[in-house]
Amino acid sequence: MKIAIPKERRPYERRVAATPDTVKKYRALGYDVAVEAGAGAEASYPDALYATSGAEIVPDTSLLLRDADIVLKVQRPMNEGEGRNEVGLIKPGAVLIGMLNPYGARGDLDIYARGQIAAMSMELVPRITRAQAMDVLSSQSNLAGYKAVLDAAEQFGRMFPMMMTAAGTIPPARAMVMGAGVAGLQAIATARRLGAVVSATDVRPAAREQVESLGATFVMVESDETKEAETKGGYAKEMSEDYKQRQAALIAETIRKQDIVICTALIPGRAAPKLVSEEMLRSMKPGSVVVDLAVEQGGNCALAEAGKVVDAHGVKIVGYRNVPSRIAVDASALYARNLLSFVTLISAKEGGKLAVDWNDEIVRGVALTRDGGIVHPQFSSTSS
Ligand code: NAI
Repeated sequence: MKIAIPKERRPYERRVAATPDTVKKYRALGYDVAVEAGAGAEASYPDALYATSGAEIVPDTSLLLRDADIVLKVQRPMNEGEGRNEVGLIKPGAVLIGMLNPYGARGDLDIYARGQIAAMSMELVPRITRAQAMDVLSSQSNLAGYKAVLDAAEQFGRMFPMMMTAAGTIPPARAMVMGAGVAGLQAIATARRLGAVVSATDVRPAAREQVESLGATFVMVESDETKEAETKGGYAKEMSEDYKQRQAALIAETIRKQDIVICTALIPGRAAPKLVSEEMLRSMKPGSVVVDLAVEQGGNCALAEAGKVVDAHGVKIVGYRNVPSRIAVDASALYARNLLSFVTLISAKEGGKLAVDWNDEIVRGVALTRDGGIVHPQFSSTSS
């Protein structure tokens, strides 16, 4: 069977779904591998390295996809309405694996079903121990959390660490991290390494221990509601209006003393919670920086704009899109290994063949469409 790796063509995307290293592993599993020319160029993986690893380099997408049995993508393929019909090039019966964003692009599920494509969305990998090596949200958020702090440092007109010099003492920067999940914890660790004094907040009480073990202070509104704030999958739920008001009061009190705020709070399948209001921005010191990693899901911070650095009330609000792609070499390497683990799970031990166990918990978690229908319980009501 043949695995194909197309070049990513959505704006702001520099990552690639396979590296020369994972290509070698797919070859060892017995698969033929074809890579579109230039697919890894923006992540510093040139065609020659893929060729050395045993991939065929194919000059265009239609040639690449017409006989591909497995298509590995970073982002969902473009469809007819988007000017370039990549999904229409995938052959019926093929398996498509990528971050297909089913919550944001539900209409695509009908297109996959109509095209007889078995679409598998890696964001839906269940958070069980066996699936950790396939957890793309963790691998990418971790890097985003790191890069967010560096992006903040770049915009900040001051240093992070305390410094005692003959010319005087510079106080350490104070950083606050909103949302202490995977990205938030990495942001805490990175800001600490740079020398900032760090605090963090979350709605899941379990986050306290993790935050404190990284040497940061944990601030949160505790209530009966927070005992239930974590879903079985480890994600946060949307909180009540009463909770939101009490949380806003706590954040308002803390934020005015901060120089750096890193926003990472997300609720799967919903708009990101609004945590930093314009009023709070006004209370911050001039020259402070907010980085909003949630900007593409609606943003945690008022006035944040996707793709822009906004200057408001003397505060810089950084809303870069697709932050993992800003660190494309490592983001691709980790994502490619996540996919390799998943493809290995659904493959026969040798001979380069698929052997999908459709009853496996991980496969059931990610499978969106199969045999012309939508099979995922969360999306089956949108079936055409
Ligand atoms: P996420 O990206 O969905 O959200 C980021 C953070 O924002 C979460 O910690 C969430 O609780 C927080 N948040 C949501 N609403 C908020 C609000 N209104 N105010 C403040 N904070 C808010 O979550 P992520 O980072 O993907 O992971 C969440 C948890 O899952 C973490 O505890 C992580 O350790 C755990 N996890 C478990 C894995 C496993 O067992 N295999 C793998 C990866 C993560």
